[in-house]
Amino acid sequence: MGSTAGGPGAAPRAAPPPESLEEYGDFPTPIELARDILATLGPIGTKWSRVLEPTCGDGAFIHALTEHRYPPREIVGIEVQGDRFVGGPPKLSTPRTDVTVLNADILRADLRRLVKWKTKGPLLVVGNPPWVTTAELARLGAENVPAKTNSRNLKGFEAISGVSNFDLSEYIWVKLLRDLYPLSPSIALLCKTSVARNVVRYAQQERLSVYDGSIRMIDAHMWFGVSVPACLFTLHVGHGAPDYTIRVYDSLEAPLPSAIIGIVNGHLVPDVNRYQKVSSSEGTFPFEWRQGIKHDAAAAMELVLDDSDRLFNRLGEEVDVEPEFVYPLLKSSDLGSERPRDIQRRVIVTQHSPGDDTNRLRTEAPKLWSYLMGHKALFDGRKSRIYLGGPPFGMFGVGPYSFSPCKVAISGMYKKAIFRALGQVDGRPVMLDDTCYFVPTQDPMSAAVLAALLNSDPALEFFEAVTFYDAKRPVTKGLLKRVDLRSLWDQVDPSTAARRAALLVPGLRGAAAPPKERWPEDYGEFVRRVVS
Ligand SMILES: C[S@@+](CC[C@H](N)C(=O)[O-])C[C@H]1O[C@@H](n2cnc3c(N)ncnc32)[C@H](O)[C@@H]1O
Repeated sequence: MGSTAGGPGAAPRAAPPPESLEEYGDFPTPIELARDILATLGPIGTKWSRVLEPTCGDGAFIHALTEHRYPPREIVGIEVQGDRFVGGPPKLSTPRTDVTVLNADILRADLRRLVKWKTKGPLLVVGNPPWVTTAELARLGAENVPAKTNSRNLKGFEAISGVSNFDLSEYIWVKLLRDLYPLSPSIALLCKTSVARNVVRYAQQERLSVYDGSIRMIDAHMWFGVSVPACLFTLHVGHGAPDYTIRVYDSLEAPLPSAIIGIVNGHLVPDVNRYQKVSSSEGTFPFEWRQGIKHDAAAAMELVLDDSDRLFNRLGEEVDVEPEFVYPLLKSSDLGSERPRDIQRRVIVTQHSPGDDTNRLRTEAPKLWSYLMGHKALFDGRKSRIYLGGPPFGMFGVGPYSFSPCKVAISGMYKKAIFRALGQVDGRPVMLDDTCYFVPTQDPMSAAVLAALLNSDPALEFFEAVTFYDAKRPVTKGLLKRVDLRSLWDQVDPSTAARRAALLVPGLRGAAAPPKERWPEDYGEFVRRVVS
């Protein structure tokens, strides 16, 4: 019998320190949920003789396992928070199940060495790893981070997820898959759906032999009080042909899947059947999608125009700067609304490209210079690495494209792909913030035609089939790049599209006059016109 951690109703233990909720992503699983999860997984002891709970906390899963009708023969739990052991080790073992709880850090331990199994047989890994991201940990100055950020695991993982910020549970998934791979475990963990998707991508890229994957949605708000799409994600490791399709069920109990996630043409898609119907719209988008501007100094840089044409910043101060540095601004919330209101937001743009030296403003725009100097602390306090070594009032995502008179724009945050055609406001090009993507065009008609194509039914169906709308930022540049504009051009009915385009043009803010042009005769000519 090994040492054991406290569990619900077990020996007293010190209350976890308040910061543990944050640093350790400590959302204990209600025992009822742990029981429901085991019921979903089936007769546990019949299928698996050994179970590992990799971050066992108070031991909700261990308790649910030992009292299960078909308990496993052996359970090992791992928990990093030493205070869980205060109050003496309660006896978690039962006549049917041997339980050992290890006080160890799963991020640093080599699981093959740490866990000394007393029994053999099929292995189930079940639990609920921490709900915290590495960025949140960095903010807390926490130590509960993967051992070496240059470790092979993490490097490989970053390369795949494309981000340096990820959920700790993603790292734990990867670690379990790597360390326990030779034991061919079944792994079933509660996690965010975004974590599950990244793990599928990882498994595919590493060619791991996994099969029979499923995502069963849970109500994270009801169980944990957090509004995030979450699930029980299960993968089985085997030695046969891998299968990276994942059945998605709307609940733990749902008898049939509502969709099947899979990797098609190198991309994870939310519903492979739906995707098959729109795959002809997948290709290469001919224009570059740009992201809006980023400055991280909203209090000083973002302004509002009042009814008497006076500008105020977010600090409530009236702002008087050279008007040629002030531009209309649209944010995600403006692009998402069906009827965009008059644009009253303004933004100060200090550069034409990120390399521009902002010191030139001292002579070129003395009023702006003195305003910026008055708020210099805001700029100096910007944490993002992108500003390091740059000019004092530098921005990001600014370039010649930012100043194009017309644009077709979309918010990265919205749950539906809605594209807006934008013209100038008061003769000034509209800027977008960095939650938005856009294609610059020189003339209103090109913007209108492009928006009509991107808002067409085949385009909408394509975006519905490839977008995970429960992601934090569902629409990304990577996704926008995949729509085959030529195919949309061929699929849409020109007269309907032309009517839509014509409707869009008067809506183009500031478009000088209604268009004389009609729907372009030829796709190639249209593309040349946008690019020019
Ligand atoms: C979301 S809670 C879940 C606890 C338990 N699995 C349950 O279902 O009730 C996450 C647990 O992971 C533990 N944890 C966090 N970082 C850890 C690490 N590096 N090694 C082991 N356990 C860790 C936390 O202390 C916490 O108990």
